[in-house]
Amino acid sequence: MIGFFDSGFGGLTILKEVEKTLPNFSYIYLGDNARAPYGGHSQEIIYQYIIEGVEELFRQGAKLVILACNTASAVALKKLQQEWLPLHYPDRRVLGIFNPIVEEAGAHNFKTIGLFATQATVESEAFIREIVKIDMDVTVFQQACPLLVPIIETGNFDQLESVVQKYAQELSEKSNPMDAIILGCTHYAIVAKTFRKYLPAGIKIFSQGEIVAKKLKEYLDRHPEFKGKLKEGEKKIFLTTENSPHVQVLAELFYGEKIDLFVVSLS
Ligand code: DGL
Repeated sequence: MIGFFDSGFGGLTILKEVEKTLPNFSYIYLGDNARAPYGGHSQEIIYQYIIEGVEELFRQGAKLVILACNTASAVALKKLQQEWLPLHYPDRRVLGIFNPIVEEAGAHNFKTIGLFATQATVESEAFIREIVKIDMDVTVFQQACPLLVPIIETGNFDQLESVVQKYAQELSEKSNPMDAIILGCTHYAIVAKTFRKYLPAGIKIFSQGEIVAKKLKEYLDRHPEFKGKLKEGEKKIFLTTENSPHVQVLAELFYGEKIDLFVVSLS
């Protein structure tokens, strides 16, 4: 099984795209809804939560886990891959959704890229650190959007337009024009149209789900020995640390259809 971990259900937008590209695998998704969002937490807390989530997915049988959360990938992935995984699960893999987008964006020779993301992702500066390894000449302008995840999670969409407009305006004051935009938070995928409305016409906006799906397929093709371990039919399991009518609404919002949820407890 391929596991997906996210602070909540935003990562379902990534899973949806991965399933289209790789339909013959089994998937297990875990959203830590009881403790979401992670975006305002310290790096230490986020790291601890992620280890608990990944460990649960391993326990449930996942051999490969995707951190389907930019905040998690930006803050914890490297440390987890270099320190925790080799010590505790040397035969399993954890991949992030940050590097695929960095590789894709870095291959275009852009001069300027705008990044919208959570506060924790922006503070980690992981995107800037990684992209300059691929393209030394690119300048990244970051815009934290702390109000956006809460707006999407609480369904207060009447505030969405003005908040997106404000963030787009703030970013354009840092650099104008910009060559491309990355919506660096899984939640933003479902409000991409609103971003488009307040960004310069025709600007390239990367779709993270599609890029992650493409890069994951390439990864599995490069690692046939690992791919063989994952091919187990077409089962799908959805786990959450909290269930409620609201959590079910979020599942449908991000996944586009109703799903059966099973509750697990972490820590
Ligand atoms: N899913 C997270 C991301 O992609 C955002 C939600 C959170 O702050 O936990 O950054």
